[in-house]
Amino acid sequence: MTKAFYRLGEGNIASIVQHPEVIYRHSFRKMPQMGVTEPEVKQLIAFLRWVGEIENRHWPPQDEKFVTAFKLREAQAQNLNKVDVVMGACGGCHSFENQGRSIGGDFSAIASRITYDRATLIRFMLNPASVKPGSAMPPQNVSPETAALIADFILSLKVTREVRQ
Ligand code: HEC
Repeated sequence: MTKAFYRLGEGNIASIVQHPEVIYRHSFRKMPQMGVTEPEVKQLIAFLRWVGEIENRHWPPQDEKFVTAFKLREAQAQNLNKVDVVMGACGGCHSFENQGRSIGGDFSAIASRITYDRATLIRFMLNPASVKPGSAMPPQNVSPETAALIADFILSLKVTREVRQ
């Protein structure tokens, strides 16, 4: 949990603790519904942010990428490569080439499955339920520019696959 704030961000932490049975519907992870209240969620997020900012010499090392990507992704996205942007924004729940976590699925598999065009994929990121009613994925708090970059990245995985086949 040390860097959970950076791995997931505020909105995702709130969605996970309030609706674990939805977010983890397709995952082997089974977090119980704890009945956490709205004020408790705010306190929990403030606590996780505080924990994440403690100087602990970049521990745990596997989360350091998320911390860097989280801090740079909106302000200086040009300083990150595409995979870092995508994993920094989505790697708390999605995996790609053995990075990240697979709660929502691996992006290569998702790319080969989805039929969304670019605009629909961007809309899905910002408000999943508006594209896929009942979707277990919470809305993502990314700027339209970052969402466009991520959509291009995911769709590029699809193109490469199709060309290879
Ligand atoms: C808090 C966890 C979480 C985060 C963070 C997250 N997702 Fe998801 N995502 C999910 C879950 C869970 C699903 C499975 C949704 C379902 O089918 O109900 C999913 C599914 C998807 C799908 C497949 C949709 C479909 O129709 O099959 C796409 C595309 C996707 N996510 C993109 C993203 C992108 C891009 C980001 C980062 C901007 C992101 N996700 C961040 C949890 C997350």
